[in-house]
Amino acid sequence: MCGIAGFVGSEPAAPMVFKALTRLEYRGYDSAGLATISRGHLWHKKGVGKLPEVQAQLNLDKMPGTVGIGHVRWATHGAVTDANAHPHLDCRGRIAVVHNGIIENYQELRASLSPTHRFLSETDSEVIPHLIEAHMAQGMSLEDACYHTSRQLKGSYAFLAIAASEPDKIVACRQDSPLVVGHSQGRCFIASDVPSFLEHTNQVTYMEDGEMVVLVPGQATFYNGLKGDLREPLAKEVSQIDWTLEDISKQGYDYFMLKEIMEEPTTIRRALEQDRQLVMDAAMDILRARQVVITACGTSRYAALIGRYLFSKLAGKFCDVVMASEFQYFSDSVDKNTLVIAVSQSGETADVMEGVRRAKANEAQVLSIVNTQGSSVARASDRVIYLDCGPEMAVAATKSFVSQLAVFYLLAYAMRSRLDEGIAKLKAAAGAIERELKDNFKKVERLAEVTKDRADYYFIARGANFAIATEGALKLKEISYIHAEGMPAGELKHGTLSLIEDGTPVVVICPQDYTHAETLSNAMEARARGAYIIGVSDADHEAFHEWIRIPQTEEVFYPLVTVIPLQLLAYYLALARGLDPDHPRHLAKSVTVK
Ligand code: M6R
Repeated sequence: MCGIAGFVGSEPAAPMVFKALTRLEYRGYDSAGLATISRGHLWHKKGVGKLPEVQAQLNLDKMPGTVGIGHVRWATHGAVTDANAHPHLDCRGRIAVVHNGIIENYQELRASLSPTHRFLSETDSEVIPHLIEAHMAQGMSLEDACYHTSRQLKGSYAFLAIAASEPDKIVACRQDSPLVVGHSQGRCFIASDVPSFLEHTNQVTYMEDGEMVVLVPGQATFYNGLKGDLREPLAKEVSQIDWTLEDISKQGYDYFMLKEIMEEPTTIRRALEQDRQLVMDAAMDILRARQVVITACGTSRYAALIGRYLFSKLAGKFCDVVMASEFQYFSDSVDKNTLVIAVSQSGETADVMEGVRRAKANEAQVLSIVNTQGSSVARASDRVIYLDCGPEMAVAATKSFVSQLAVFYLLAYAMRSRLDEGIAKLKAAAGAIERELKDNFKKVERLAEVTKDRADYYFIARGANFAIATEGALKLKEISYIHAEGMPAGELKHGTLSLIEDGTPVVVICPQDYTHAETLSNAMEARARGAYIIGVSDADHEAFHEWIRIPQTEEVFYPLVTVIPLQLLAYYLALARGLDPDHPRHLAKSVTVK
């Protein structure tokens, strides 16, 4: 899960590529580097650290030349070192490659190249420039060499290659890792995602698996690498993206995460502007399917758990939720009478994509609920409902989660043929959240200050709120690095209660719904053993040391309002501990490796 970007045109490439990398940092931020070509010479610079740190040392954006490629890394093979950072070069330093993905057969390839090639890193990626070098040494052009190289690779890759002997050209190949080309007069952009070059163009072409593209100033020529015909260019569609620059800037906030939390009422409303027919058709598919399986990872899976509850509660339709990384172990039970619902903010999560592939292979129908337009999951699905919440830049998912919930509500109401009622109620919920946001800031910030040195946090809830407890714990672990667990409130006494010490924070999610009384009893049990109880509820209670007030709503809508203070708590805890909430260590926004 790295970010890659390239530019070819008539103006300096390095500032363009560097700017693109600043937008890709969410995909990896342990090291960074750039390569350019100028006057027949290949230049490259790379180093360990977040992009601004590497830039401060190496002035990446000042490198010469009008063609360039760059990389931000999320280490998979090889430690975080200068040598393992990209770009990687061939033996003579005339070819440079940046790669996102995992080359599964790299050891075998490296062994076959080793007698005559010099390797400088521990990465899987470094075999690529050496393979290209070997092919070019036999007289091949850069594109022929890249094509033959891609046929030798097993695993997932999106790679960009440049060669000093063929300046003004980038060749890129894709297999199971995203790549998108941006078209602009007299120049070409290529990157792992659209926001990287959005300020220059919104005219894009998505690459498919097995495809290769040759970019020269103002012209992108696509080929189908799998069919092996490099003389027959492919006719590819150009799509127009409707995201704006505002969507990808912080707009005065210190961090994207807070900006994105603040956008939640708006993003719920945006999710409601779906095409009615699409929602009705998808709802009918769900009702008609013999079995429905929802698959997703992380935060998206917690949204799916609430979706399952809504389908059952509002429309009497039972379905299962399978963690995408485990989907393959159940896929034998998926057949043509199954509807698989794939939920993914990025639409590029490798585990989700693998689930979609297996579902399609077994002839199941696939409905996806996705945010990123044109993403791999979206393109592989039979039907797509877009969240339309705008690009989510912080690694921690926040606004996409509430938008996913909004779509699940819409589907559940549509399944009962009461879509209008659902829309009206969601609009009211969005208004209540707007008011709640204003009320909770100060309290949550203070709470974060008081609890910032605790080693553990527990989140308990019952029923559908259980998924919110687990989501609250995930958010906290992810960005504050405090150990946290979310669990059904009734389970606490079956083991975990022994971990409660004097002052251990226990967040009790207990709105006034069907779970209220029993969850409060569990809170009292924890309090009696010294826990510091933080109640998230629309009513205060003697069990609480701290009360975070949420608005009163209809029972099924509580998950929408209870999650927000938990997102804020994680955010303020990260700040109180001096951490960058947008870029948590070891993580990346888009997990494109299995
Ligand atoms: O893009 P996706 O929704 O498929 O991503 C799934 C998870 O990787 C993601 O939700 C992850 O858990 C978030 N960083 C959590 O905040």
